[in-house]
Amino acid sequence: MKRLNIALAGVALAIPAGAAQAAELNLICSADVVICERLVQEFGKDHGDIQVNMVRLSSGEAYAKIRAEARNPQTDLWWAGTGDPHLQAAADGLTAEYKSPMLDQLRDWAVKQAEVSGYHTVGVYSGALGWGYNKDIFEQKGIKPPECWKDLLDPSLKGEIEIADPNSSGTAYTTLATLVQIMGEDEAFAYLKKLNENIVQYTKSGSAPVKAAARGETGLGIVFQHDAVAQAVEGFPIVVGSPCEGTGYEIGSMSIVEGAQNMDEAKVFYDWVLTPEVQSIMPEAGSFQIPSNKNAAPPKEAPDLTKIKLIDYDFATYGSSDKRKELLARWDAEIGGHASE
Ligand code: F6P
Repeated sequence: MKRLNIALAGVALAIPAGAAQAAELNLICSADVVICERLVQEFGKDHGDIQVNMVRLSSGEAYAKIRAEARNPQTDLWWAGTGDPHLQAAADGLTAEYKSPMLDQLRDWAVKQAEVSGYHTVGVYSGALGWGYNKDIFEQKGIKPPECWKDLLDPSLKGEIEIADPNSSGTAYTTLATLVQIMGEDEAFAYLKKLNENIVQYTKSGSAPVKAAARGETGLGIVFQHDAVAQAVEGFPIVVGSPCEGTGYEIGSMSIVEGAQNMDEAKVFYDWVLTPEVQSIMPEAGSFQIPSNKNAAPPKEAPDLTKIKLIDYDFATYGSSDKRKELLARWDAEIGGHASE
């Protein structure tokens, strides 16, 4: 028996010289892992000839990886995550220009994202920032649910709030940039210092805070509203909040890496993932953003962006390399690493 195994192993190793290598695609996925895995699975059904190697990274981490690989790109395509770091990657020359034949099917905000970046990125979904709180915990502790950003500073919320670190998370960077746009930079940092007194933990991934609130580990997570909806749909006692002063939003984006080793495969995935059929799968995987293709119906659970007080988020400024670097450096100096227990 032992001898047979050895013989079989020998056969397996005898790959004929010059045999065609399977086509590959190295993908970074910056949305929820469930939709990332589902996309890879669905792509395999339509394009079984292309092997997808996917890694899930938060938006800021994905940007950092692509930057670190600039001289020898290992990643071909970066799908979704918030648009700001995609715009920064475009400005830094890390991503390639591509005009997809799907562009004319996309909503205006998705096309604008492409135009602003010189066609180095494109919008794939959109969603507004807010929070989700655990109504059971709030009731038990007698905490009044917040309605405004300023309410999050209330001492009754001490040790009850989680948000991600804006260096790793696009959600948290969107929060930082939103507060700066609403309050002005100095006031926003003064606000964040006070908010820090109520923060129990800065997480790596943007949606982790509301998942913790859903499990009752914390009271409230500052997240995209669709991520709070996802927990409520799962049956957790999560209520979605939308700040009274107004709020920012994301244009989740997609970019091909400059110098990608598998450029053709990256374009196949890029065009495929922008189709209405693929975008319509997202709610089945618990992703309730507004899809960018006009022919993909927004999920019925998705927060209605026309009913939310949205700010006129300045993507060009807050996605610029200088502004993002400057705000993150100030966050590190004044806020970072100071989470209370
Ligand atoms: O998939 C959920 C989601 O909130 C997306 O809408 C968003 O683009 C992404 O996660 C941001 O993740 P992170 O904050 O971890 O970068």
